[in-house]
Amino acid sequence: MILKPKGTADVYGQESLKWQYINQLIADLCNKANYSMIRTPVFEATELFHRGVGETTDIVTKETYDFIDRGERPMTLRPEGTAGVVRSYIENKMYGEPTQPIKLYYNGCMYRYERPQSGRSREFVQFGVEVLGTDDPLIDAEVISLPVNLLKKLGLKGIKVNINSLGDNESRNNYKNALVNYFKPQINELCPDCQRRLDKNPLRILDCKFDKDSPILVNAPKVIDYLNESSQERFKKLQQYLTDLAITYEVNPRIVRGLDYYNHTVFEIEATIKDFGTNNVLVGGGRYNSLTSELGGPETPGIGFAMGIERLILALDQEGIVLIKEPTIDCFIMYVNDEEKMVALILTNELRDQGYITETEYCNRSLKGQFKQAERLNSKYYIILNSELLKNNQITIKNAQTKEENIISRDELSAFLEKNV
Ligand code: HAM
Repeated sequence: MILKPKGTADVYGQESLKWQYINQLIADLCNKANYSMIRTPVFEATELFHRGVGETTDIVTKETYDFIDRGERPMTLRPEGTAGVVRSYIENKMYGEPTQPIKLYYNGCMYRYERPQSGRSREFVQFGVEVLGTDDPLIDAEVISLPVNLLKKLGLKGIKVNINSLGDNESRNNYKNALVNYFKPQINELCPDCQRRLDKNPLRILDCKFDKDSPILVNAPKVIDYLNESSQERFKKLQQYLTDLAITYEVNPRIVRGLDYYNHTVFEIEATIKDFGTNNVLVGGGRYNSLTSELGGPETPGIGFAMGIERLILALDQEGIVLIKEPTIDCFIMYVNDEEKMVALILTNELRDQGYITETEYCNRSLKGQFKQAERLNSKYYIILNSELLKNNQITIKNAQTKEENIISRDELSAFLEKNV
């Protein structure tokens, strides 16, 4: 038997209904806020992620699915959506469009070669948005409000919004230097990963899962103290806007994010549900004002977030939130002989066209078997075809719940269903 690759999942049946439901909510949410859908390739030139996500990030150093295509080009399955969207923004010269900022959303598979565990897989789905072309903190607040509103709509209660600011490049660099000076004399007391991060990416030491409770990390310099005046001003405005939107948040100086491209606003939404496990960050995002120019485009500010849908569904399940009622169908059409079968085919097609969820028999079951099948499918009405009645253009329709049975003309069926379904 051929099995699915490690860290992937098959989604079908009841589970797929949850996905459909969430996808519909996402599309509605984004349409109302005037974000348009973007679909970029699942694979891109490897260089995009090295330059975009950052050479020193965990994602690029150990998690990408890299391959050489048949034309000898180095390619990578996308580990995240932002770099591809920014590549597309530059390639398609979206910066030239008159309706700035450009507001985009995506909902698709990402790939990271990680150790699979609850909430962490190798193929996973991210819903994300990216806004390019404005640095106004108003849009930072809007971008944070979108996942907050979605989680609220879904009824998820156990969430916490953490925000932080890394400041502009000057502030971020000053802070980086302060961290290196602080950690250097005591780096041997931290884990080997942190030791490696000291030169390459000292900010990441702050969100080390292994050393998170060490006093060295707890007492580390806080980025807030290294923000220059304009960065502080900007961060204050964002907080005011979030308060205006009645979004409860916490300023958490440990939020630094694992990708290299961030400056100013960074944020995460975590699930605070009991026993949820360590992979509890449902949403991560932030501002990336230098990414577009680093990828060869014009200087353009940008901000976005991504939400992991598998993690979201885990959180909803853990809180006992039921999105989908037992599936039902409107009508099940039954027949026995070939003449009735032909009418069943036509009638099924007609009723579906009129908007009723309609099923018929495909497996040659006896009439008794068809009643059982209709019951299993939770059909509201059973339509029983019979050659004798069909001669007079009549059919039998039975209400599955009340068991009431009527013989009606085929021409009356639409009106009957309209009244009763
Ligand atoms: P990220 O923090 O790497 O950010 O991922 C965002 C979310 O994707 C996570 O919070 C999590 O819910 C989900 N996720 C990540 N890795 C996995 C995995 N292996 N299995 C299941 N779910 C996962 C980004 O990807 C940025 N591109 C976000 C962004 C957009 N920043 C600005 N714009």
